[in-house]
Amino acid sequence: MEVIIRPTAEDAAFLTARLIADAVRENPHIVLGLATGRTMTRVYELLVDMHQNKALDFSQVATFNLDEYVGLAPENENSYRYYMNQHLFSRININPKNTSLPYGIAKDLDSECRQYEQKIKGRGGIDLQLLGIGRSGHIGFNEPMSAMFSRTRVKSLTPETVAQNAPLFNPPESMPRRAITMGVGTILESRRCLMLATGKEKAEVLARAVEGPLSAMISGTALQLHPKCTVIVDEPAATRLTQTEYYRWVFENEPDWDKYRDAE
Ligand code: F6R
Repeated sequence: MEVIIRPTAEDAAFLTARLIADAVRENPHIVLGLATGRTMTRVYELLVDMHQNKALDFSQVATFNLDEYVGLAPENENSYRYYMNQHLFSRININPKNTSLPYGIAKDLDSECRQYEQKIKGRGGIDLQLLGIGRSGHIGFNEPMSAMFSRTRVKSLTPETVAQNAPLFNPPESMPRRAITMGVGTILESRRCLMLATGKEKAEVLARAVEGPLSAMISGTALQLHPKCTVIVDEPAATRLTQTEYYRWVFENEPDWDKYRDAE
């Protein structure tokens, strides 16, 4: 794992978008794993801008989202399918047929979860998985006690996650209490992970995920097991990390980061 600290949330989002864009340019048939949430909206805005102004081509790209609320139809404004269409898919040249999210109103949810896993496998697996982190430590909706080897399944959301996301619903009480989520094991199988966390409210949980002991109580700690995981944070989110001097040294000196250093 490597942790990259950028001065502001804008810089962190910009670096994240650039890494995704470079991966798409390198492999036009890339399979992306995508996340939703407040942290990602700016990343998607930047990708749309790169599509419109820098010829970033998504025509051959396939995507799989991490999660979807149980009980919300794709056309529901609070569904993650709606979020993705709004923020990204309708604004770039991706083939809608190549975009996948779990179907939150499937009659047989277990079968939907199994099929989602099969679909990911059928596409050859996820090349680059984008992730945020919730205040409960979740990646995707892998709430505390999610097995490190868990697969796509239905998970009950914690009161903390409900408190985090209910304000986005009208009325807040209408927020579903369950979601379909890729499992921690599914996420760990992706070839590269890219986590973005910004803001001081993420500082505590981020430090636990990145530097704390491995624990199913904080699903984000599982990323410590991933062979190629980059965590991008802004200064406020980095305030509880202990090894910041080392992380800064890596960004300033590792050749892989050369071309990204003076890109702000
Ligand atoms: C959403 C997802 C979640 C979010 C996390 C952070 O698809 O997988 O893990 O990334 O809840 O959400 P925000 O960015 O709203 O703080």
